[in-house]
Amino acid sequence: MSTPAIRLDGKRALVTGGASGIGETAARLLHDLGAKVVIADLNREALDAAATRTSASAVTQGDVSSEADSERMVAETISALGGLDLVFNSAGIGDDLVPVHDQSVERWQRVVDVNLRGTYLMCRAASRTMLQQKSGSIVNVSSIVGLGGFPRRSAYAAAKAGINHLTHTLACEWGPSGIRVNAIAPAYTRTPMVEALLERKAFDPTILEKRTPLGRLALPQEMAQAAVFLLSDWASYVTGTVLPVDGGWSAFGGAGEVASA
Ligand SMILES: NC(=O)c1ccc[n+]([C@@H]2O[C@H](COP(=O)([O-])OP(=O)(O)OC[C@H]3O[C@@H](n4cnc5c(N)ncnc54)[C@H](O)[C@@H]3O)[C@@H](O)[C@H]2O)c1
Repeated sequence: MSTPAIRLDGKRALVTGGASGIGETAARLLHDLGAKVVIADLNREALDAAATRTSASAVTQGDVSSEADSERMVAETISALGGLDLVFNSAGIGDDLVPVHDQSVERWQRVVDVNLRGTYLMCRAASRTMLQQKSGSIVNVSSIVGLGGFPRRSAYAAAKAGINHLTHTLACEWGPSGIRVNAIAPAYTRTPMVEALLERKAFDPTILEKRTPLGRLALPQEMAQAAVFLLSDWASYVTGTVLPVDGGWSAFGGAGEVASA
């Protein structure tokens, strides 16, 4: 008996933030499951390097928070692939980890713009063709920081919480047109960004591990797998959900460490 597997043959996918981390890993997985993929990113050099690693059909460079770039990146994807079925919005940046009263308003705005406005603009640009064809699947990237309060992360927390409600709203608005919109909410994931923070001891992973029921940080592949499930027809009756992919982080309501709670 053959084992049923997620297959994405014939699907045309756009992955933002596809030059690194979770986006790059998801782009590779989408390709390996049969989709044709375009990766989009702000960083031209990283984009070109990731094109080979992900076997992307094409790349498109731009800033997701720019309306003009969002429209152009979607248009370039459609012209490279002949259409658009799946969008994974992974482009994002973190905050400076400073208290609110020391925060620069410009940086606060940039974090909100890239994460929230960027997700909105990319969904909006992709919806034009998806509404016409009456099908499509979009997965946005939230965070555990969008599920609860985190000190010194006001911009990122507000942006990711905004993505959650944007996801709910778009799912309701576009569901009648056959478009599904979901999000994943990752916990700390060992992407190049987080590995660099760990290397310079910016935070202590053991504190996070003890607060996490599964007792470890996540791997990019684990985020990619959850995103691909939601993008695929295996999730054909799932829309408007924000799926925590967090080793149980958001389920834990005890005091102190999981083992001693
Ligand atoms: N790594 C984690 O622990 C973690 C946890 C929760 C949520 N997330 C979210 O997952 C997503 C991916 O994070 P990652 O860890 O893979 O980060 P990463 O830095 O490895 O990758 C993000 C990519 O987005 C690109 N990017 C940044 N700003 C952009 C812009 N304005 N326009 C286009 N591209 C832009 C970057 O160049 C980079 O290639 C982000 O939305 C992040 O907030 C990450």
